[in-house]
Amino acid sequence: AATDMHGIEKREGWSSRSAFILAAIGAAVGLGNIWRFPTLAGESGGGAFVLFYIGCVFLLGLPLVLSEIFIGKAGQTDAVGSIRHVAAHSRASKSWGLFGGLGALAAFLILSFYSVVAGWVLYYVGVFAADFGGALLAGEPFRGALAGEDHGAIQQRLGDMFANVPLLLGMHAAFMGLTFYIIARGVGSGIEKAATILMPMFFALLVGIVIYGAFVGDFGEAVAFLFTPDWSKLTPGVMNSALGQALFSLSLGVAGLITYGSYIGGSDRLGPTAGIIAVADTSVALLAGLMIFPIVLSVGLDPAAGPTLVFQTLPFAFQEMPAGSLIGLLFFLLILVAAVTSSISLLEVPTAWGIGEMKWSRMKSATIFGLGSFVIGIFCLLGYNVWADVRPLGFWDIFAETDILDTVDGFTGKIMLPLGAFFTAIFVGWKADRRLVAETTGLSRFWLGVWRFLIAWLCPIAVAIILVTGLFPSIL
Ligand code: PHE
Repeated sequence: AATDMHGIEKREGWSSRSAFILAAIGAAVGLGNIWRFPTLAGESGGGAFVLFYIGCVFLLGLPLVLSEIFIGKAGQTDAVGSIRHVAAHSRASKSWGLFGGLGALAAFLILSFYSVVAGWVLYYVGVFAADFGGALLAGEPFRGALAGEDHGAIQQRLGDMFANVPLLLGMHAAFMGLTFYIIARGVGSGIEKAATILMPMFFALLVGIVIYGAFVGDFGEAVAFLFTPDWSKLTPGVMNSALGQALFSLSLGVAGLITYGSYIGGSDRLGPTAGIIAVADTSVALLAGLMIFPIVLSVGLDPAAGPTLVFQTLPFAFQEMPAGSLIGLLFFLLILVAAVTSSISLLEVPTAWGIGEMKWSRMKSATIFGLGSFVIGIFCLLGYNVWADVRPLGFWDIFAETDILDTVDGFTGKIMLPLGAFFTAIFVGWKADRRLVAETTGLSRFWLGVWRFLIAWLCPIAVAIILVTGLFPSIL
């Protein structure tokens, strides 16, 4: 990479506004949309969760998306440095930078289990690639998946995978290695290039599978399941996970969009950009629901199956459906593609911190955080076999039954992300210099007013209430 006269790497940036939008959508759209959203929607009973989630996205998430991009664009450096820059400009304390550090830590932790789950996906890509290869050789390219296996055997594949530590480790290592490789190449030839190749591929696959599902699956029942609210199911716990999911899916609270926003060079107007990101991410989550539930419901499977939904239940469905072997392969490829464009954003946050604050080279920083996250991921995956009984936060009632991976997921998603969102809202809503905000975002006076109300009042209050009631349900 190019260096300046002090031997410090020059900061790269996006080549265009659309490059940033594509990369940001890539970061937002991921396992969160295709694995976590359907899982939570299914477990939480569908409609009420989904509608509350959509409300969270547009009333709380969208203003936060804009806030994070604003901080990054104004700061032009890593998350901690960018927050400090805005703070200095606004005569606020530099210690606000701490919430950027909290975000970078959350990103680092999320990456660890994210890579493990993406490793499962990678394995299933392999399973279905082999299956489709077999179908081709047999001269039956359009047959169902996993021909001749009974349900027990299909389910057993997941159990066997979980019991196979070397396999899990290999897949986790392969996915983390790929993430590392892209991040080590930098913003232009790494992140941007990956996004411009992978995102169009992703959308083509997604639309194709949704159309397929609409023809062969039970689309009407899926729509009813996803959009008919039963408000009695909206408990504080469900609200907390819906908020956590909205934040997770939009990549908020981990300083991801601060970091990506810091590579914006020009004078883009940020309002439409933030809107596009939020709408695209939410559409993909809903489309993923409309892709998965018709298939699940049409074969009478349980939508509340939990984290194993896409791994265990969907293969049953692919087995019974025309061209299921091919569709199964495309489906897991789709998830894998989405996961890569997100995991790189997770690694980029701490990596940018190392470059900006510790003055490390990109290579060194990406190696340290990639490896560190890989090691934590090993603990997560051992929670599926040798440490299956370990409950890291078992003393805390809401995590009493939670294994290692789900604990890292739950702790970051339910606690760290809402905290990050809360501090972002207070900082941008109350501390940041209003002239700087207006200039950097390019918002009209009307939208500045709307946004200020949401970010200064609604976001902090709603996030605080949901956080506290979710963590301590007994106070209600
Ligand atoms: N938004 C990503 C997803 O939905 C996950 C993510 C979270 C990525 C936080 C970056 C930062 O899969």
